[in-house]
Amino acid sequence: MTTDGANDGFEYHRFERHYTERPNITESRLRLLWSALTTKVPGRTLSIGAGTGDVEESLRERYGFTVDEIVEPSDALFPAIQSKGFHAWHGIAEEYPYEKESFDTIYYNGSSHGFIDDENLEETFRKNFDALRPGGRLILSDVPKESTLGILLFTVYEHPDLDRSPYADLLSGTAFFDIAQGKEPTYKPNWHVTTFYIELLERIGFVDLQFRQTVLANSTFQNDAVEDPVAGYTQGNYVAIIATKPAAAH
Ligand SMILES: C[S@@+](CC[C@H](N)C(=O)[O-])C[C@H]1O[C@@H](n2cnc3c(N)ncnc32)[C@H](O)[C@@H]1O
Repeated sequence: MTTDGANDGFEYHRFERHYTERPNITESRLRLLWSALTTKVPGRTLSIGAGTGDVEESLRERYGFTVDEIVEPSDALFPAIQSKGFHAWHGIAEEYPYEKESFDTIYYNGSSHGFIDDENLEETFRKNFDALRPGGRLILSDVPKESTLGILLFTVYEHPDLDRSPYADLLSGTAFFDIAQGKEPTYKPNWHVTTFYIELLERIGFVDLQFRQTVLANSTFQNDAVEDPVAGYTQGNYVAIIATKPAAAH
């Protein structure tokens, strides 16, 4: 079920630790997002599901790029976005009051795969499509179900009573290492493989799909080194899909 923002299980401090306790994964993810954002000039940009806005702050500090709008439903995380000075709307992607052809880029970073209920997913991405200007892009950047990390997280999510101890050395090198210590996997109830998203985006009318991937290392070794993104989607534990609205679409 889609989040109500109040009982989503997100805790501010645990969330922030994600970024600092596994810094090489954070850096690899940032480089992936920036690579996806810059396949063309981003223009007026909306970030959906920004958490605490740490990534947006890094984009601003590192690259001088400031998102124009953020959508974030979590009561626990939303104040951190505001404190960073971003223009933000408190709610879910499904209900944001999109204005037609008002953005050049809409991106979901770690929030596209699995949070939105399946029955509302196509309608929400269609709203995103309508909110994009011709030639604008929708970017989905997330952990694919079929990746090493995806298989691990999906397994723990599907089997909450699983004895985690045999999995601890698999999870310890990932951004979700605390799941091995028994923390609840509060993310991504609906899991799909990358080709599901490709077919969905093409059905909606997006064209010229491009792909970037990073963190190709197996789970145990994901924080060992920073990785630069490469083209494709068949190997990465983090994959960005860049889909374009046709220039002539209306
Ligand atoms: C894993 S976090 C990613 C946060 C941040 N973008 C990052 O990469 O670190 C997923 C975020 O999506 C948000 N989210 C969950 N359901 C959502 C929905 N229906 N619409 C918009 N955002 C949602 C959560 O509140 C959370 O902040």
